[in-house]
Amino acid sequence: MNADPVTPAPVTPAPVTADRIPLLSARNMTKRFGGLTALGGVDLDLYAGEVLALAGDNGAGKSTLIKCLSGVYQPDDGQLLFGGREVRLGNPREARELGIETIYQDLALAGNLDVGANVFLGREPVRRVFGLFPVLDRPAMRAASQQVLESLDIHTSLDRPVEDLSGGQRQAVAIGRAIHWKARVLIMDEPTAALGVPEQRKVVELIGRLKTQGVGIIFISHNLSDIFAVSDRILVLRRGVMAGERLIHETSGEEIVKLMVGG
Ligand SMILES: Nc1ncnc2c1ncn2[C@@H]1O[C@H](COP(=O)(O)OP(=O)(O)OP(=O)(O)O)[C@@H](O)[C@H]1O
Ligand SMILES: [Mg+2]
Repeated sequence: MNADPVTPAPVTPAPVTADRIPLLSARNMTKRFGGLTALGGVDLDLYAGEVLALAGDNGAGKSTLIKCLSGVYQPDDGQLLFGGREVRLGNPREARELGIETIYQDLALAGNLDVGANVFLGREPVRRVFGLFPVLDRPAMRAASQQVLESLDIHTSLDRPVEDLSGGQRQAVAIGRAIHWKARVLIMDEPTAALGVPEQRKVVELIGRLKTQGVGIIFISHNLSDIFAVSDRILVLRRGVMAGERLIHETSGEEIVKLMVGG
């Protein structure tokens, strides 16, 4: 071999790294209810460690869009890509198995169950007595719940039924659950709507923390100050279509309101 020692090795093009592919993409998402087009061809990309806000007036299609992203609705048209691969979500469980967790203000938790049980809702660990009878592994649930809540700086008794918690603590438990199950995408529909100011702050802080852990977050809110506090990008819907998309540091509340209500 007669290789020239001063010739540098050929530079191979940088691979497309995983974090340059959106975690989640929607293309041409379309959903009709009878004669009403609730969503008329919306595109969206969400990257790891990014908070994307969804804004729009009442009835703009925000909830319909996230229901199409979380397996609640099957879109009439359009494509969903997870990590660059096309997926079809038949139901919310399939979305969760991929790592897409959705938090609703009211539907997130089972009020009659305690905090620990809520972290595991629908995915309870089971151990077998005498290698035969399956029983809930309560000590394992307790230990894991305690750990996840402490990691979030949430101090509440694990034995309290969730209906005794404040709105902010409930949100925190729902977020804790998403963390425990290692959500890669977290979708939050109006997480701060029913909360007092300190609790809103707490939720906003938790969103910031998840972002640093690389979770991609879609955040629906009517509250522009929350949106400006946590989001990187904002997508505005109007009557089921995209009214605009902006980087948060390149826009203003005034511009967003204009996009929401139309020219
Ligand atoms: N299950 C349904 N059946 C029929 N129409 C629906 C259904 N869900 C939503 N719609 C309609 O689709 C449109 C979009 O509703 P959607 O709930 O997505 O709006 P939104 O942006 O989340 O509003 P809000 O800010 O009030 O929560 C509305 O006109 C609504 O009435
Ligand atoms: Mg809604």
